[in-house]
Formats: sequence, C-alpha cells, structure tokens
Amino acid sequence: MAQISLHDFVSQETKRQPHVFYAQLRSVGPLHYVEGLNTWILTTYEDALFVLKDPRFVKDRKKVLEPQQDERNTLQEVIFQNMLTVDPPDHTRLRRLVSKAFTPRMIEQLRPRVQQIADELLDEVQEKGSMDLIMDFAYPLPITVISEMLGIPVADRKSFRAWTQAIVNMQHEESKVALEAFLHYIENFLAEKRIHPGNDLTSGLVRVEEDGDQLSESELVSMIFLLIVAGHETTVNLLGNGTLALLQHPDQMRLLRDNPSLLPTAVEELLRYTAPVGLSDERWASEDIPLHGEVIRKGEQVVAALIAANADAQQFSDPTVLDITRQENQHLAFGKGIHFCLGAPLARLEGQIAFGTLLRRLPDLRLAIEPERLTWNNNPMIRGLTSLPLAF
Ligand code: HEM
Repeated sequence: MAQISLHDFVSQETKRQPHVFYAQLRSVGPLHYVEGLNTWILTTYEDALFVLKDPRFVKDRKKVLEPQQDERNTLQEVIFQNMLTVDPPDHTRLRRLVSKAFTPRMIEQLRPRVQQIADELLDEVQEKGSMDLIMDFAYPLPITVISEMLGIPVADRKSFRAWTQAIVNMQHEESKVALEAFLHYIENFLAEKRIHPGNDLTSGLVRVEEDGDQLSESELVSMIFLLIVAGHETTVNLLGNGTLALLQHPDQMRLLRDNPSLLPTAVEELLRYTAPVGLSDERWASEDIPLHGEVIRKGEQVVAALIAANADAQQFSDPTVLDITRQENQHLAFGKGIHFCLGAPLARLEGQIAFGTLLRRLPDLRLAIEPERLTWNNNPMIRGLTSLPLAF
C-alpha cells in the first residue's frame, strides 16, 4: 500500500470491512499523506489523542493559510462559523450557549419522549413484517428528537434527509444546491422564530442574538445548521451500522436481547466497533510539527482516523472482536478534547432506546437481502448504509 488515495477510503470494500483496510494502513505506518484528501491521516490511538488535544492543531484555517490559499466560498464561510470549526475563545463562547441543553441530566428528561417516538415508528411497520431500517426507524428517530429540541415544525423536516445526503455525498454541484437550500431554509425558520418564539432551544438562541454581542446572525445560522446535521446524520449511522453488526454477530444479539441491562456497554461497543464517524473533522498545523520522522508543515491539514484508533491493539484487547460486555472501552467515537461531541449523552440515550426497543419488539429480526448487496455512502468521514432492508 505505497500510495493511498481518496478512493481507498471510500471504496465499498473499505466501508464494508473497515478494520481490514485500517489494520493494513496502520501496519504500513502511523502517519500517511493522502493526496485526494490533501491531508495527513493518523492511525494509532496515541496519535489520535495527540491531534485531538494539542492546541497547535487549530480549526480556523484563516490562522494558518494565506488569504489566496483559502478556497472557501461564501456559503462555506457561513457553515464554518460554528463551534466545530472555530477555536477558543469563540469555541468556548459558542459551546457555552447550548451546552446546558445537552448535559446528561437534561437529556435524561427526554427518555419517555424518545421511547414514545421509537414505539410509534415500530407501530407503523410491525404488521408489515418488513422495513428499511434507515428510512423507517434510524433516520426518523433522531431527526424527530433534534427537531423537537430546536422547535422545528414537522412539515419543515421532510427535506432534511435529502439535503444532508447530498452534502454528505460530496457531489460538488448537488451538495452546493442542497447547502444553499438548507441555509435559506434556516434563515426563514429563524425569521419565523423572531416573530413567534416558543419554548425551544432556537428561540433561546434568537434572544441571545438580539440581546447583545454574544452571537452574530451568521453564527446563529451556522449553529442551527450544525445542530440539525450533527444531531441526526451520525445517530442514523450508529443505529444502521449497529443493527447490521448485531445481525452479523447473532451470539451478541441474543446476549443483548436476553440482558437489556447490557444496553449501555453495548452502545459503547457498537460506537467503537462500527465507527459512525470514521475520521475526525480536519485540523490545521499552526506551526511545523515533527512526527514519526516526518514534519507536518504549518498550514497542512491533519485528520485522526478514529475508526483505526478504536481498533488499535495497543489500547484495546481483541479490538476486532465485537464484545458488548467490554468494560475497558475508552473509545474515540465521539472525539476527545475541547471538541468532544456535545451530543454524546443524546446519542447514547437514542442508541440505548433504539436497540432495546428493536430487540424487544422484533424478536425475529433478520436481513432481508444478502449482505453483499448492501451499499454504503461515499463520504470518507462518515460510515453509513444507504438502506438496510430487514424482515421480522
Ligand atoms: C452516534 C452519534 C454521534 C457520533 C458518533 C458523533 C461524533 C462526533 C465527533 C467524533 C465529534 C468531534 C469531531 C472532531 O473533534 O473532529 C463530534 C462533535 C460534535 N457533535 Fe457529535 N456525534 C454524534 C451525535 C451527535 C448528536 C446527537 C448531536 C446533537 C446535537 C451532536 C452534536 C455535535 C456537536 C455540536 C459537535 C461539535 C462539538 C464542539 O466542537 O465542541 N453529535 N461528534
């Protein structure tokens, strides 16, 4: 594997069996420059922690690139003004504005409602004996939850899947059109909230924006965009990839069905093993940083392969084994450091309720097509199935 390319990261084979590809990559070396992605990729657990935590790797590319090197267009200017794409002190300020709503205690209060949504979705399909897990369950569950938190009306949500998929699939023209439509929608939605505020997260943020200098208008648009996209796309893939992994490991599925008290450790293991977010978001080297005999130059991009770090034998015993009872499981599926996933408590709650409800209500759950016919998205960062036909 002398020269790795973008294709290696997005091929159906890599998506299907990521551990094989990343183990091979790690065996060649801990650090790789990928031409098509224009980025360094780090493959060990230790190096992933290093890049996620060392403040010399920054998020704001303006700090390290000359203006003519920064190829972002105006649309991207807007979506890069959220907490995930900026550094302190802006990061601290933006994250603080919403962090209270996502604490484990606040999220726990959503449990009855999330359970109700999961049950209603299965009520719809139970009699039919079949469903596409993605469209019938894994997508509507988290999008309903985050939309309710943000006060987004039901009728508005129907385009979110198509827009997000177009953005995730990175086809240049399609993703630009989708992004434009998405941002346009958010602007209208915010205008409506200014006139008719409610008891929701968005109305609170609109008040903050109107009150003073804590949040600009484009930061507000960017925040809502991030919360909608990060608030569902990742969880869809935890539920899709996790269900497939359980179906492919019937002993683990049986164990979980018979012991629902294992749901918390099972969700952690499915996060580690199935990598809904396979690569971290990018960071930029703010100075020359020597590593493993190479030098990451100032202005170069660096990404941590979370999926590879989570299968590093230096950190995990039998890393390629799915063990829903695993106790030592400091996985990096939610990242680490100041950008650690804000929505982790919500994703955990949704995962526990979703897997618990599926196994309890559909005891004869099985794949409705040959596993070889399943198809995966082509985003290097996100690992997700396009559909998951099931019978029960
Ligand atoms: C299984 C589900 C999820 C996974 C695997 C996941 C994964 C991640 C990862 C890896 C990061 C850090 C990226 C980096 O540092 O480069 C992150 C950040 C973030 N996630 Fe999640 N996420 C999930 C669900 C959610 C949910 C439900 C929300 C709800 C709003 C959410 C909101 C965020 C936000 C706002 C950030 C940025 C935090 C910051 O920059 O301070 N995520 N997520």
